[in-house]
Amino acid sequence: MSSKSFFIINYGCQMNFLESQKIAGQLEGIGYSYAPDKMNADYVVLNTCAVRETAERKIYGTIGLIKKYGKSGVKIAVGGCVTQVKGKEIYDRYKQVDIIFGSRNKEMLPQFFESADKGKRILNLDEIVNEDIEYALSAKRDSKYSAFVEIMKGCNNFCSYCIVPYARGREISIPPDNIKDKIVGLIDKGYKEFTLLGQNVNSYGKKFTDDKDRNYRFLDLLNDLEGINGIYRLRFITSHPKDFSFELADLMATSNIIAHSLHLPIQSGSNKILKLMNRGYSKEDYIEKISYLRSKIPDIALSTDMIFGFPSEDERDFLESIDILKKINYQIAFLFQFSVRTGTAAAKMEEKFIDNKTKLERLQYAIDFQNKISYERSKNYIGNIEDLLFYSSDKTGKKLMGRDTHNMIVVADGKKKDIGNIKKVKINDGNSYTLFGSQLNE
Ligand code: SAM
Ligand code: SF4
Ligand code: F3S
Repeated sequence: MSSKSFFIINYGCQMNFLESQKIAGQLEGIGYSYAPDKMNADYVVLNTCAVRETAERKIYGTIGLIKKYGKSGVKIAVGGCVTQVKGKEIYDRYKQVDIIFGSRNKEMLPQFFESADKGKRILNLDEIVNEDIEYALSAKRDSKYSAFVEIMKGCNNFCSYCIVPYARGREISIPPDNIKDKIVGLIDKGYKEFTLLGQNVNSYGKKFTDDKDRNYRFLDLLNDLEGINGIYRLRFITSHPKDFSFELADLMATSNIIAHSLHLPIQSGSNKILKLMNRGYSKEDYIEKISYLRSKIPDIALSTDMIFGFPSEDERDFLESIDILKKINYQIAFLFQFSVRTGTAAAKMEEKFIDNKTKLERLQYAIDFQNKISYERSKNYIGNIEDLLFYSSDKTGKKLMGRDTHNMIVVADGKKKDIGNIKKVKINDGNSYTLFGSQLNE
C-alpha cells in the first residue's frame, strides 16, 4: 500500500477518458490518493492524444510547468497515443519525464512508480491485451449510473488523415462474455446506462483478442445485451458509415434499450475528398443510409465529425460540406480543421495543403452555420416529454442533469434523491447543446 498521491491529466477521446478512469481506480485500490490538483501530486500522469497537433503540443508545456511549480520530487508519467507513436523520441528529448508508458500497458503503472522512486527512468510500451474484468470494474467513474464499456481496441481503416491506427494498433474485439460480464458487474453496482466504445463498432467481431473462431458480430452483441435485465439505455460510438448496415437500423428501431441517437461521422460532403480520405463510401451512400434510418426512427438525432481544409479541398468541396450539414440536419457536429499527422498518407499530400487562414475561415463559417442548425433543432424539442436518467447535479448544484434518448444534455429541477432515477421531464427551452425542463409530477 502506498500513502502517496497522484493526479491524472486526460486528453482525447472517450477511450482515453475510460482508460484514465481505470488507472485512477487501480491506483486508489492499492492505497494511492487522488491529489486535489496537479501541482500537489507525488505522481502526475498525462494520458495523451495524438489525433491533432494542438492536442499533442499541450503536453510539452504542461510537463515543464509541473516540474517547475509542482511538488518537490514529483514523478511524471506520460502515456497514451502520443507515446505509442513517439515514446522513444520523448524519452530521449524530455529528461524531465520519468515514465513513458503506452495505451495498452496502463496496468503496469504501479510497478513503474516503484522503479521511478528508486531513481530509474522507464520506457515501456508493452501490450497487455486481455484486460482483467476486476480491473475494468474498479474504474473510478465520474458517474454512478452511466458507464463507458470498451468493446474493441485499435482500428484497421487507415483513413488517410488519421493517426489512430498507428497509435492504437490493429483492430481487435473483446470477447462477448467479457463485455457481458463487465456490464452485469456494473449493473450490480447500480449502473443503468452504457455506452459501448470502439473506433468502428460496426466491424465488431472480425477478430477477437482470444483468437477463438466465432461467428459473432455487433448485431449479435446488441441482441444479447437486449436480453440482460437492468440496462435502461444503450449507446455506442463510433459507427463508420461504410459499415453501418440497414439491419442495424432495423434493430435500433425495434430495440427497447438503444437510444434514438447516432454518431455517424461523415468527415466531408465532397466525394472527391472522401475518396482522398480513404473513407470507403460516397455522399450518396451516406444519405441513403440516413434516409433509411429516419424512415425507421423519425426522431433519431444525428451527430457527426467533419474535417475542413483537407489537402486539395477547394471552394466547391467546402460548399458541399456545408450543404451536407444542412441536408442531414445534424443535432451536433464536431468540426475540425485538418491537422497534418506525420506518418499518415495525407501528410504526404504536401503540394495540395491548404493554407492555415483558409482552413480557419472555412472552419469558422461551418461552426457558425451548424450552431444555427443545432439551435433551431433544440427549440423544436420544446413541449416534448422526455424520459431522463438523472446523473448528477448541474454546475450550480441547484438543478439536476441527465441525457435524453437523443443524447441531449437536459437540465431540470429535482431533488438530490432523484439522482440515479428515471423521471419524466417536460422540455421548456433549449440552446444549441442543452435543453432545460421541469419534472412532471407522476
Ligand atoms: N473512429 C472514429 C471515426 O471514424 O469517425 C473517430 C476517430 S477520431 C478519434 C475523432 C475525429 O477526429 C475524427 O472523426 C476526425 O473528424 C478527427 N480527426 C482525426 N484525424 C484528424 C486530423 N488529422 N485532423 C483533423 N481532425 C482529425
Ligand atoms: Fe481514424 Fe478512420 Fe479509424 Fe476513425 S475509422 S479511428 S477516423 S482511421
Ligand atoms: Fe483517442 Fe486521441 Fe488516441 S482521439 S484514440 S486519444 S489519438
